[in-house]
Amino acid sequence: MKTKLLLSLLTLLTVFFLFARVEAAPNTFDTINSIEELYKSSETCAGCHGGIYNQWKSSVHESALLHSLDGIYSFIVEGIERDPARKVRPLKPEIMKCLGCHAPVMEYASDKLVKDVVDAIKMAGGKTADKDGKQKAKELLSHLNVSCIVCHSLKAVPPPNFPEKQTMYGIKGHGSTPFHSIKKTNFLDNAIFCMQCHGVYTAPDREQIICSTIAQSYRDQYVAAGGQVTCQECHMKKHNRGHTFPGAYVLDTLKESMTLEVSARAIKTQSYGDKKWIPAAAITVDITNNAGHRIPDGCLWTSRVLLTVTATGENEKVIWSARKEFFEPGIDIEGNRRYDAWEIKDILDYSLPPRKTTTEKYYAVFPEKEKLVKIEVNIVYIHKDGLQFPVNTERKVLKYN
Ligand code: HEC
Ligand code: HEC
Ligand code: HEC
Ligand code: HEC
Ligand code: HEC
Repeated sequence: MKTKLLLSLLTLLTVFFLFARVEAAPNTFDTINSIEELYKSSETCAGCHGGIYNQWKSSVHESALLHSLDGIYSFIVEGIERDPARKVRPLKPEIMKCLGCHAPVMEYASDKLVKDVVDAIKMAGGKTADKDGKQKAKELLSHLNVSCIVCHSLKAVPPPNFPEKQTMYGIKGHGSTPFHSIKKTNFLDNAIFCMQCHGVYTAPDREQIICSTIAQSYRDQYVAAGGQVTCQECHMKKHNRGHTFPGAYVLDTLKESMTLEVSARAIKTQSYGDKKWIPAAAITVDITNNAGHRIPDGCLWTSRVLLTVTATGENEKVIWSARKEFFEPGIDIEGNRRYDAWEIKDILDYSLPPRKTTTEKYYAVFPEKEKLVKIEVNIVYIHKDGLQFPVNTERKVLKYN
């Protein structure tokens, strides 16, 4: 009798533990296709949400892995494979330190698929003569991005709650379709929804990865200074931008982000020795950041805003010039300037703060003979790969007699 009771208790316990374990262990998949059976690719939404799909297709979210392939490639070959500490850790949590934001569905990848994806990143990002292999690798990686389901399911429910299966979360939350259920949420309309990825990532091992720094400057500089506009209002609702999410790769958004004002006054200054009157100028450059965060961003060190002030005299000859870069250098705990998101621990901020006008003042002295001086002020946004966008230009003409 006693043994029978003990036995049934044991079975009960086993059943309980089995179920508890099934609940706790997340499903993992061996191929991208099998992940996509559950976590649909954006292509499956295109038939019914064609307009939105086409907008999303033109956004950086669509290529959130391939677009930053060089950085993620070097994290694998330099950051993981050459770092004795990282090399011995399980691969998945390490690579999730990038893919957690760049390709969140990889959370559901098995160790085998993680290895396949890492190999594909090495093949696609490295130097190889195997053109077919590279093409195949890129095809696989093109499935990994910030897809519809990432935003409308996986990230649509504020933690610690989880999204319901086969449910799409939206801000309207009405209408129906046999393809998916619809739930209303205000979370999608909150800045904090975007800040989940546009800020710090804390890994399960407590390592903090700082790649984008938008969230911090949005809250601590923009909102703290009275800014009330959300990410969605500037990046989606304004000018019906919808799901194109324009940022620093779209000239119109860049132009909107910075107002340039230049004052230049011709003055004559006296030289010390022979006391001759020499042409000079007092130049003031005001740059106002109209965005909701610092400019530039990127993966910390990658982007720069370059200000150049150039004075030309007779025959268009450059007679004076000045330049200044606005950017964020990252430094590691040894005090070395680093170019790698995974090693940056501190940030020096030389960027343009939001809701503020940054003023640069110059006192330029020109050659004695100049009678007419043209001043040109340029702002250029420079991406890590050298891609440049001319944001703004102002000109002034100064006359001397
Ligand atoms: C917290 C989420 C998050 C994590 C974790 C993360 N990133 Fe990023 N990453 C972003 C966001 C958001 C951007 C876009 C930033 C921008 O343009 O303002 C970005 C941009 C980049 C870019 C620049 C793309 C460009 O436009 O020049 C590179 C390269 C990059 N990430 C590499 C990495 C690497 C390597 C890792 C892992 C060590 C990593 N990221 C981890 C969110 C993240
Ligand atoms: C980066 C996150 C993100 C991604 C990726 C994304 N969405 Fe959205 N989507 C949003 C947000 C936020 C809103 C609410 C916009 C607003 O406040 O106006 C929205 C709104 C919508 C709406 C309702 C808006 C309307 O005009 O009816 C639909 C439908 C939708 N998304 C479908 C999609 C589909 C389909 C895809 C993929 C092709 C997609 N979304 C990709 C964040 C995203
Ligand atoms: C068979 C057609 C169909 C397919 C396929 C489909 N949807 Fe929908 N979806 C609808 C209809 C109909 C509605 C309700 C009316 C509306 O908002 O257009 C809707 C509503 C939504 C909403 C709610 C918008 C809001 O603000 O409440 C979101 C988000 C959404 N769909 C996302 C997706 C995503 C992501 C996919 C792909 C994984 C997808 N849909 C695939 C037909 C479809
Ligand atoms: C799941 C993570 C994730 C979420 C949520 C997310 N983003 Fe992104 N976003 C990224 C990543 C990663 C990139 C950079 C991809 C790259 O450059 O490789 C990016 C890029 C962008 C860019 C283009 C950056 C550039 O350099 O031009 C804009 C703009 C943007 N996101 C706005 C938003 C807004 C607004 C929201 C909220 C509605 C949002 N994102 C939500 C991950 C996310
Ligand atoms: C007041 C309008 C405004 C608000 C609010 C705003 N942005 Fe922006 N954002 C801009 C403009 C304009 C640009 C283009 C200039 C630039 O690239 O910095 C931009 C650029 C970006 C970029 C590309 C940055 C780069 O230099 O690579 C990302 C990513 C981005 N925004 C995300 C966000 C997120 C996330 C939020 C909310 C936390 C947000 N933005 C709030 C106006 C805004």
